Amino acid sequence: MKRLFSFRSLNFIRKPDQIILPPLYSLPVDRRAVSASYFCTKSTNDHKQMDLSDMRKKYKGDEESFEEDQLISLDPIKQFGEWFDQATKCPEIGEANAMCLATASKDGRPSARMVLLKGFSNEGFRFFTNYESRKGKELDVNPHACLVFYWEPLNKQIRIEGPVEKISRENSVEYFHSRPKSSQIGAVVSRQSSVIPNRQYLREKNAELEEKYKDSEVPAPEYWGGYIVNPYLIEFWQGQTNRLHDRIVFTRTKEGETDLQEMQHQAEGGWVYHRLAP
Ligand SMILES: Cc1cc2nc3c(=O)[nH]c(=O)nc-3n(C[C@H](O)[C@H](O)[C@H](O)COP(=O)(O)O)c2cc1C
Repeated sequence: MKRLFSFRSLNFIRKPDQIILPPLYSLPVDRRAVSASYFCTKSTNDHKQMDLSDMRKKYKGDEESFEEDQLISLDPIKQFGEWFDQATKCPEIGEANAMCLATASKDGRPSARMVLLKGFSNEGFRFFTNYESRKGKELDVNPHACLVFYWEPLNKQIRIEGPVEKISRENSVEYFHSRPKSSQIGAVVSRQSSVIPNRQYLREKNAELEEKYKDSEVPAPEYWGGYIVNPYLIEFWQGQTNRLHDRIVFTRTKEGETDLQEMQHQAEGGWVYHRLAP
């Protein structure tokens, strides 16, 4: 399952054709009442405290449980691929490749934001961004990250942790030029995470660059490119009835490490797995 580095094969990550429904009606019937009451009729502008203690999702029956014998593979990258495919085929999920990326400063202060997964393989999980952004600066001094996917209609969450590296300049440039020209200009316009005076500033810079590059290729900025998270931990979480959620965690074994710990099981490709209490 090689899904990284070939930009032609990354089409699967684009959104499949979808029926666009108004947000409320894209929710299961049993959740509409909760959404409507909390997000439509109650205003957050009244400066009163919002009590969300009754806001909880009804999970489906035991048929959604995730037992070890339901793993399609003992290779967690293949298992990720299986869940990711399910998410891309789910019409209620608009961007299956949207993931939360957590980084931390040198002194351990965390920050998180959404980014798009642009490929994965045994080598890791890849995304693109501005190297001078807040996340870029944090990764410079603390090259470790955590990625979280949450596919709400499927009650599935995946957590991935590992060290992060920049991908090659060549691969970044190749991907940069595979994007629509407007996105390429957008990446040049925006010195991500820097303070700007107003939106007009962005409009003007965008117009200026559109004119400048109207008949030529936009050069890929040095400060823009890809990162790859090389996982040492991948956790599969399946939301369950009565909150007895399933959590199966794969960890990569260190070189020369052969002994399994208590309740740990051998997986494939240098991984072991165990189950955690929800
Ligand atoms: C669904 C979604 C996908 C996003 N994808 C990306 C992405 O792939 N790369 C990126 O740099 N920012 C992406 N963003 C914007 C980031 O969330 C964030 O605002 C930006 O990267 C600056 O983050 P930072 O200041 O923490 O570095 C995305 C936002 C959303 C909501």
